Amino acid sequence: MKQNLVLALLPLGIMVTATAAPDFAKDIQPILQEKCIDCHAAPYKKGTRLRKPKGDYRVDTRENIMKAGDSEEPGVVPKNAAKSEVYKRIILPEDHDDIMPPKGDPLTLAEQKLIKDWIDAGAKWPKGVVLKREG
Ligand code: HEC
Repeated sequence: MKQNLVLALLPLGIMVTATAAPDFAKDIQPILQEKCIDCHAAPYKKGTRLRKPKGDYRVDTRENIMKAGDSEEPGVVPKNAAKSEVYKRIILPEDHDDIMPPKGDPLTLAEQKLIKDWIDAGAKWPKGVVLKREG
C-alpha cells in the first residue's frame, strides 16, 4: 500500500521539478520588498505631505505591477519579460539614467533571471497579497 502511493506520486514530483518557475513568496516578493517598494508603493502621508509613487507606478499588487506609469509602457506583460518595463529597466547598465533601482546596488544576475523567469511563466501572484513599505 505505502509503496504504491510512492510510485503514484513519483511522476508528479518529476513533472513539478521540470517546470518549476520562481515562487512569488520565496523568490520575487523579497526582491520587490527590498529593492522597489520604497518608491513604488501606494500613496502615503509623511508628516503633512502626501508621498506619491515614483513615476506614478506601483509594484504593490499584481494589477498595479502590470500597469503603465508615466512612461505608458506596461510594467509587466505576463509571459513576455522582453516587453515588460520592469525587466527592461533592471537589466540596464549600472550607469544608465533609467536603471531600477536608481540608487543602491543593481539587482544581481540571479535576481534578474528570477524576475525574467517569473514574468515568462505568467507572473503569478497569490490572490490578496499587497506589498507595503516598511516604516
Ligand atoms: C529610490 C527610488 C526608486 C526605487 C528604489 C525604485 N524605483 Fe523605479 N522609479 C523611480 C523613479 C524616480 C521613477 C520615474 C523616473 C523614471 O522613469 O526613471 C521610476 C520609474 C520606474 C518604472 C517606470 C514606470 C513608468 O511607466 O514610467 C518602472 C517600471 C520601475 N520604476 C520599476 C522599478 C523596479 C522594478 C524597482 C526595483 C527593482 C524600482 N523601480 C525601484 C524610483 C525608484
